[in-house]
Amino acid sequence: MTLKIGVLVSGSGSNLQAIIDNIEEGKIKAEIAVVISNVSGVYALERAKRHNINTEVINHRDFKSREDFDRKLVEILKSYNVELVVMAGFLRVITKVLLDAFPMRVMNIHPALLPAFPGLHVQKQALDYGVKFAGCTVHFADEGVDSGPIIIQGIVPVLDNDTDETLSQRILKVEHRIYPMAIKLYSEGRIKVSGRKVYIDPPLKIEEGSFLTNPPVDI
Ligand code: GRF
Repeated sequence: MTLKIGVLVSGSGSNLQAIIDNIEEGKIKAEIAVVISNVSGVYALERAKRHNINTEVINHRDFKSREDFDRKLVEILKSYNVELVVMAGFLRVITKVLLDAFPMRVMNIHPALLPAFPGLHVQKQALDYGVKFAGCTVHFADEGVDSGPIIIQGIVPVLDNDTDETLSQRILKVEHRIYPMAIKLYSEGRIKVSGRKVYIDPPLKIEEGSFLTNPPVDI
C-alpha cells in the first residue's frame, strides 16, 4: 500500500522538494496526493506543479477563525484520501480541528533543537544565545507550538563567523535529510508513539558512546 501524503506549505518549499525527490528516487513508498498552500504564488506550488502534483490554495484570511480554516483543510485533505499530513514551512498555528481529524498523523519540521527555541526566528535566537550546536527537529504536531513528540533530530555546529543566513542554510541541508527519513519510517509503519516518546521499531543502530563536541576535544 502506498501512503498518501498531504503537504502543507507557505513558502519556498525546499523541504517539499526533498520529499518529492526521495519519493521519485524510490526511497519512500508514498505519494503526495496534494500540496496545500495558504499563500498564493509561492514557489512551493510551482515545484508541485512541475512534478504533476495536485495543488490547492486556501487563503486563511478568507476564514473567520483558525478552526474554520482548519475545517476547510480537513475537507480538502480527506477529499484526496490523505493519511499523513506533512507541514513543510507551513506558517500557521493549527488547531484541534485538524489534529482530531488526523491523530498522531500530522508532522512538522522546526529549524531548532527542540525544546530549545520554539517559535519564530529561531536561528537568530540560537546565535544570540551562543549555543555551540544548532539543528532541526521533526515531530508530531500537538496543540502547542512546536511541542509534540519528537521523531528525529539533526544537529550542526555553530561556527564563530555564522550569520543568521549561513546557519539557516546549514540547518536546512539537514532538514532535507531528516524529513524524508521520518516520512519513510512512518510509511513503513515503524514509528511507535508512547506518550511523549517516539520509538523506531525495529530500532536503528546508533553507536554506543558516540558523541560530537564543538569546539573539538583534542585531549
Ligand atoms: C524551514 O526552515 C522549516 O524548518 C521552517 O520553515 C522553513 C521552510 O523552508 N518551518 P522550505 O519552505 O521547506 O524551503
